[in-house]
Amino acid sequence: MTEDRLQAVTDEVVASFAETKDDRLREIVTSLTRHLHAFARDIALTQEEWEAGIDFLTRVGHITDAKRQEFILLSDVLGLSMLTVGINAPTTANATESTVFGPFFVDDAPEVALGGDIAVGVKGRPCWVSGSVTATDGSPIAGARIEVWEADEDGFYDVQYAGDKLAGRGWLSSGTGGEYRFWSVRPSAYPIPEDGPVGDLLHATGRGPMRPAHLHFKVSAPGHRTVITHIFDSSDTYLDRDAVFGVKPSLVVDFAEHGPGTAPDGRELDSGWASVAFDIVLEKL
Ligand code: BEZ
Ligand code: FE
Repeated sequence: MTEDRLQAVTDEVVASFAETKDDRLREIVTSLTRHLHAFARDIALTQEEWEAGIDFLTRVGHITDAKRQEFILLSDVLGLSMLTVGINAPTTANATESTVFGPFFVDDAPEVALGGDIAVGVKGRPCWVSGSVTATDGSPIAGARIEVWEADEDGFYDVQYAGDKLAGRGWLSSGTGGEYRFWSVRPSAYPIPEDGPVGDLLHATGRGPMRPAHLHFKVSAPGHRTVITHIFDSSDTYLDRDAVFGVKPSLVVDFAEHGPGTAPDGRELDSGWASVAFDIVLEKL
């Protein structure tokens, strides 16, 4: 096809969306068409490659179910998730930064009291997590909803096990002074699921599947912007090669190690335990 004819294909598709009533939808499909066509032309896409691409996306769809979200995983390894996080970042300088949501959040996690334990038998070293929730002006936020989830010592989330296991996740409310505290386990580095098409992509491109050790937070409060983030363990060796590009320096924190003894809440531990502190700052809406 001549250059004119190739351009005519793109123009024709763009024109087909011209009557779209929703302005934002028209903007999206028009831009998507232009960029998708430019991409195909840039790499001179062959028919076989087009078929391989369709097959890849079909496999992404087939492996996706209520517990396995391969589309999110694909977005994550392509950096689209972090790009979206960045485009929508809070504008107030001291607000807690966000990072990828990931595919392992579940809505119906159990509520735990302040100081409670979200581990519920999850394998790992007990870890005391505490901090505060404040607004960017420093005022405490009482009653913020703090949702947390993490993988066990073997690097698996509860939803990756057979059955309906709910462990290593929960939610609590911040106290009257904005304070929060709970027990969990010290997070471990783990590979993202690599037994599906996204794993095939990582293997074919020589990329690693590892994520540095982290604990997920989703924190919301009326009148404030919800933050979805993690804290990362500063001693982790994968901080500079997170498979999903989620690490931000402000989210890297030190975990302390303690021998057997009395924890801050009076709990007696006959084995070692860890602790970490992290203050969360929410932007006003
Ligand atoms: C996670 O941290 O849970 C996660 C994020 C992106 C892809 C896979 C897992
Ligand atoms: Fe995670």
